[in-house]
Amino acid sequence: GQNNLNAKLVLLGDMGAGKSSLVIRFVKGQFLEFQESTIGAAFFSQSVSVNNATVKFEIWDTAGQERYHSLAPMYYRGAAAAIIVYDITSSVFAQSQFACNPNMVMALAGNKCDLEDKRNVTAEEARIYADENGLFFLETSAKTAVNVNDIFYEIAKRLPRA
Ligand code: GTP
Ligand code: MG
Repeated sequence: GQNNLNAKLVLLGDMGAGKSSLVIRFVKGQFLEFQESTIGAAFFSQSVSVNNATVKFEIWDTAGQERYHSLAPMYYRGAAAAIIVYDITSSVFAQSQFACNPNMVMALAGNKCDLEDKRNVTAEEARIYADENGLFFLETSAKTAVNVNDIFYEIAKRLPRA
């Protein structure tokens, strides 16, 4: 009915940024120190309730490895939302190859925020990048669960309703 919505969501970002870990934290409430690198892509689904509506996310967790990059547009196409994930400890803040699509709700997740002592990307520089590109920004930790549900709830709230 009017209060139920299916939304395709895609996770994008470099290998090892923590895309799978964020999804597994959100869907299963679990975290693995030795999460295996994704091959191709993995599918998950999870529902959230916001503002008297249920949003069922159909989540495509893409593979960050270079050899799978050509597949990403296939998962990106037709998606209602995207989360671009980077690792706050990575030495290069690789700017996303995906321009913001005005028809999509897009989030930037600075993941591994539990590793403050190894931080290389400041929240300020990421926020500026997010503002310039029409993304909303949160720092997350799949390990401690900080802001993980929040990012999915915030997306659910921002999705256009029929
Ligand atoms: P690909 O599938 O290869 O693209 O990688 P990915 O982005 O899915 O990363 P993945 O979730 O496999 O995580 C990579 C490694 O980082 C794993 O060893 C995780 O345990 C670790 N990791 C993920 N998220 C966090 C986090 O928030 N904090 C810490 N400390 N480690 C994390
Ligand atoms: Mg993965």
